[in-house]
Amino acid sequence: MGLAESQGGIAYFKFGPIADLYLVTEPEYIREILVKQWMKTIKWERLTQASNRVTKFNIVFLEGEIWRSQRKLLTPAFHTERVQGYINMMKAHTTKLMQRWKTNHVYDIRQEMTALTMGIIGEILFGIQDIEREATPLSQAVDTLLSQFIMDAASLIVLPKWLPLERNKRERLAKETLISYLQDIIKIRRISETDHGDELSALLFATDAETGETLTDKQIGDELYSLFVAGHETTALWVSWALYMLAKQPEVQTQLHREIISSSGDKSLLDRVLKETLRMYPPAWSLFMRRVVEEIQLGTHIIPKGGVIYISPYIQRHLPQFWNNPDKFEPSRFEGDWKEKYPPYTYMPFGGGARVCLGANLAELEAKVILQIILTYYQVVLLDQNQSVQMDGGFTLRPYPGLDLRVRERL
Ligand code: HEM
Repeated sequence: MGLAESQGGIAYFKFGPIADLYLVTEPEYIREILVKQWMKTIKWERLTQASNRVTKFNIVFLEGEIWRSQRKLLTPAFHTERVQGYINMMKAHTTKLMQRWKTNHVYDIRQEMTALTMGIIGEILFGIQDIEREATPLSQAVDTLLSQFIMDAASLIVLPKWLPLERNKRERLAKETLISYLQDIIKIRRISETDHGDELSALLFATDAETGETLTDKQIGDELYSLFVAGHETTALWVSWALYMLAKQPEVQTQLHREIISSSGDKSLLDRVLKETLRMYPPAWSLFMRRVVEEIQLGTHIIPKGGVIYISPYIQRHLPQFWNNPDKFEPSRFEGDWKEKYPPYTYMPFGGGARVCLGANLAELEAKVILQIILTYYQVVLLDQNQSVQMDGGFTLRPYPGLDLRVRERL
C-alpha cells in the first residue's frame, strides 16, 4: 500500500512470470480505466481461461460484440422498475425463512443467506419457486467450482482436467450437478414454448438481428450459470457481513430496529449500514483485473500494452487519505453529502463504466428487503463477546471459518 501511495496512486509489481501488475488506487485513474479508456483493456485472460473451464459463454468474461449483445439482452430484467416488481417475491422467500428460524438457535448465517438469495435469483432467472430445497448440493457445487477457479487462475501450471486427480473428480461432479440442473430446466422450457417473461425466456427467444440465429442450449446454460452465481453469492455475503456488524454493535442494531418498525418511512440508517458494510467487506473485493491491449496514459504515467491492471474495492477502502479509521464500522460516514467527501472510485463496490455490475439495483433492493424482515422479527447476537470472524479472500470475500450467530425472537 505504501508503495502505491508513494508513486502517486500506481504501484508496479512483478507477479512472478505470470504478469507485470499495476495496482491502481488513485480514484481519477480508476475512472479513466473503467469509464473513459475501458476499450483499451480486456478482462485478464487468466481469469477468462479459468472461467472457460466451466462455462465458455459467461457475460462476466465475454468480450467485444458478443458481450455487447448479451449485455443488451440481459439488462431489461435488472432495470429499476422491473426490480421493484420482485419485492413481494423477495418478501415471501424471507418470510418463509423467518417461519423456519427458532428463537435462541444458532445459525450459520452465510449458509442461511446463501440459500435465501439462491431462492430469489432462481425465481428471477427461471421462475422456480423452491430452489431453497436444493440449496445445499447446489451451493456446495458452486463453492467447489469457485475455489477451483481461483486455483487455476493463480497456478503457474494448470494441470489437465483428464488427470485422475481427486480435485478433477470433485470439479467434474460439481459441474455435472449444476449444469445438468440448469439443462433440465432449459429442456422443460423448450417443450412448453411459452414466454415466461424471465431471463430464461429472454435467452430462449433471443435471435441475432443479422443472422436470425438463436442461442444453443449450451450457451443458455452457461449464461444462466453465470447469472446464478453472480446473482446470489455476493448479495448473501453483503447481508451476512451486515448482520455480523450489527451483532457486534448492538446499539446500532437497536437504532436500526426502531427505524425499521417506525411508520415514518425514513430508512436512511438502513441505507448507511448497508453502504458501510459494502465498504468494509466488498464481496467482489478483487474482481477487477484487466489486460492492457493498447497503451494507457494516466496523468504522467504510462501503462504499456501487455500490462495487467489490478483495482480492488477492498484496497480502496483502506486508503488513509480518504477514510478516517478505515477499520472501524461507522455508518455515519455515509450521512448527507458523502459523495462530496469521497470522490467517485474511492468507493466502488459494484465497479463502474461499461462493465459495471448488472445486478446492483437488484442486490440493493434485495439486501434491504431481507435485512428489514430479519430485524423486524429477530435480534442477532454474537455467540460470545470474543467471537471474531476473519475474512477469506477467494473469489468473493467470505467470513472465515464461518459466521455463526444466535437469533432471538423480538416479542
Ligand atoms: C452485493 C452484491 C454484488 C456485488 C458487490 C457485485 C459486484 C460486481 C462487480 C464489482 C462487478 C464488476 C467486475 C469487473 O468490473 O471486473 C460485477 C459485475 C457483474 N455483476 Fe455483480 N455484484 C453484486 C450482485 C449482482 C447480482 C445480484 C447480479 C445479478 C445477476 C450481478 C450480476 C453481475 C454481472 C452479470 C456482471 C458482469 C457485467 C458485465 O461484465 O457486463 N451482480 N458485479
